[in-house]
Amino acid sequence: MNILGVHGSPRIKGNSDYLMSCFMKEMEILGHKTQVLHAAKLKINHCIGCGHCETKGVCIFDDDFTTQFLPALHKADIFVVSSPVYFYGFPSALKTLIDRIQVVWSRKYRLKTDDYRGRVRKGVLLGVAATKGKDLFEGLELTARYFFDAADIQYETGLFYRGIDEKGQIVTHPLVHEEIQKLAHRL
Ligand SMILES: Cc1cc2nc3c(=O)[nH]c(=O)nc-3n(C[C@H](O)[C@H](O)[C@H](O)COP(=O)(O)O)c2cc1C
Repeated sequence: MNILGVHGSPRIKGNSDYLMSCFMKEMEILGHKTQVLHAAKLKINHCIGCGHCETKGVCIFDDDFTTQFLPALHKADIFVVSSPVYFYGFPSALKTLIDRIQVVWSRKYRLKTDDYRGRVRKGVLLGVAATKGKDLFEGLELTARYFFDAADIQYETGLFYRGIDEKGQIVTHPLVHEEIQKLAHRL
C-alpha cells in the first residue's frame, strides 16, 4: 500500500514530527511504501475562493499543492496527518493546504467526477498539544474529517497526546510506541 503523510508543524523535529516518523517506521516494517510531505516546506497559495474549481474542476494555481500534493494524494491508500494544536486548530501552513482541497471537493460534489472509483482509503490523525482540556482536539478532528471526506478518505481514528509542549517531550511518553504500532497493524 502507499502511505502518504502530511506533517503540519513548522517546528523541525518537534513532537508531531516524531509521531509521524514512528507511524511511518511501523508502516515500512510492514512492507508499505511511505512518503511524508511537510506543509510548512511546501509553497502553497491560499485558496482565494474564486470558484474556478467549482465549474472547471481544476485550480488556477500551479504550485506545490497541485504538482506534489494532489498526485501523492491520488495514489495514497492510507493518509495520515500529524499536527500540533495551534489555537484549537491546525497551524496555518497546513490549514492553507487543507483549504486548497476545495478543488477535490468541487470535483466530487459539484462535478461528480468519481476520481477514486470506490477505492477504500483510510485516514488517521496524530495530534499533540500542551494543555489537557477535554475538547482540545475537537477542532483538528472536525477539520480532518471534512478534509478527508472530500478525497473519499474514511476517517479511521485519531491518536491524541495532551500535556506535551517542549520540543522532543513526546519521545518519553509511555504509550506512544505501543499505540502507534497497534494502529499501524490495525490499518
Ligand atoms: C502558535 C502556537 C499556538 C498554540 N496553541 C495551542 C493551543 O491552543 N492549545 C494547546 O494545548 N497548545 C497549543 N500550543 C502548544 C503546541 O501544541 C505544543 O507545543 C506542541 O507540543 C507542539 O508540537 P510540535 O513540536 O509538533 O510543533 C501552541 C503552540 C504555538 C507555537
